[in-house]
Amino acid sequence: MADFSMFDLTGKSALVTGGAVGIGRACAVALAQAGADVAIVDIDEKTGTATADEIKAMGRRSLFVKCDVTAKDQVERAVAQVVETFGKLDIGVNNAGIAILGADEEIPQAEWDKVIAVNLTGTFLCAQAEGRQMMRQSPVEGKIINIASMSAQIANCNASYDASKAGVVHMTRTLAVEWGRCNINVNCISPSYVLTPMHASTPVEVRQRIRETTPLGHVERPEDLYGAVVFLASDASNYVTGHDLVVDGGHTLNAWLAPLSREVPPRVSPEEESVQMRRDLDKLQIPYDKDGVNEDLHPEIATAFKQAFNL
Ligand SMILES: NC(=O)c1ccc[n+]([C@@H]2O[C@H](COP(=O)([O-])OP(=O)(O)OC[C@H]3O[C@@H](n4cnc5c(N)ncnc54)[C@H](O)[C@@H]3O)[C@@H](O)[C@H]2O)c1
Repeated sequence: MADFSMFDLTGKSALVTGGAVGIGRACAVALAQAGADVAIVDIDEKTGTATADEIKAMGRRSLFVKCDVTAKDQVERAVAQVVETFGKLDIGVNNAGIAILGADEEIPQAEWDKVIAVNLTGTFLCAQAEGRQMMRQSPVEGKIINIASMSAQIANCNASYDASKAGVVHMTRTLAVEWGRCNINVNCISPSYVLTPMHASTPVEVRQRIRETTPLGHVERPEDLYGAVVFLASDASNYVTGHDLVVDGGHTLNAWLAPLSREVPPRVSPEEESVQMRRDLDKLQIPYDKDGVNEDLHPEIATAFKQAFNL
């Protein structure tokens, strides 16, 4: 009989940045389902506290820590607070990230700086504070998981976002090489278009185009990342480090311009795709239409897609 206890996270202590909603919340829920205690580290106190309560309702320990990942002192305090509560830190998921759309020939430097500060510098500061903690405790070891993006490999959003994510992927490799000596695995996960509040302004026509050009045939949901994050957080990945685990339904592999054909329906229906996003928008008290779209949330995304698709 195979022994799959290697995926069990019972007794492990984790933190997830940007864990209030979206992909971060999904990572937190997955880690808690696998047995871990999980701290929610976010700038959004109200929603982050609600997510921490949700983790507690699953029978795990949790806490909310207010922290802006771009501020080194706040990041260090956040890690210290998690360790004070849980006694140690085994798993750090560095997920907080933003996108600011805009034409690269015009984007103000302040917007470039902000995206790099949150996505790249923030991820580094978190990994640094987590790594130092993991090196201090006994036994010395840990799992650091950075959330990158398909945008690290392809041109997608704009230069600041894509460059920040490419930076996350390569920083992950460098830290993996440096910290392997301490049995600290550093990996990243690259999702494609995930229906989170970040994507609530994406028009339905675009979602349909994503379905048609993605081999597995549906738009990615936060819960499609559950398996990847538990794998990289658990003993099952003990010999995996510096890896970029692309979870995209095959989206970035496909260069066909025509819609892909299908033999069977996708595993996930259009209605099921947006369940977690609607739940997050409800928690954030953000309204949306019957299709789960709110163009006013990220008007720049809605406008860019409408122009590109002649909508
Ligand atoms: N949604 C997608 O399609 C997609 C695809 C690939 C990668 N990603 C990446 O996944 C991560 C999460 O994306 P999401 O779609 O869940 O985003 P989201 O906007 O839905 O949620 C982001 C969370 O991060 C928090 N946050 C933002 N700035 C922060 C800061 N400075 N410090 C601490 N917390 C902060 C927010 O309060 C929020 O809770 C990001 O790094 C994003 O770039 C998203």
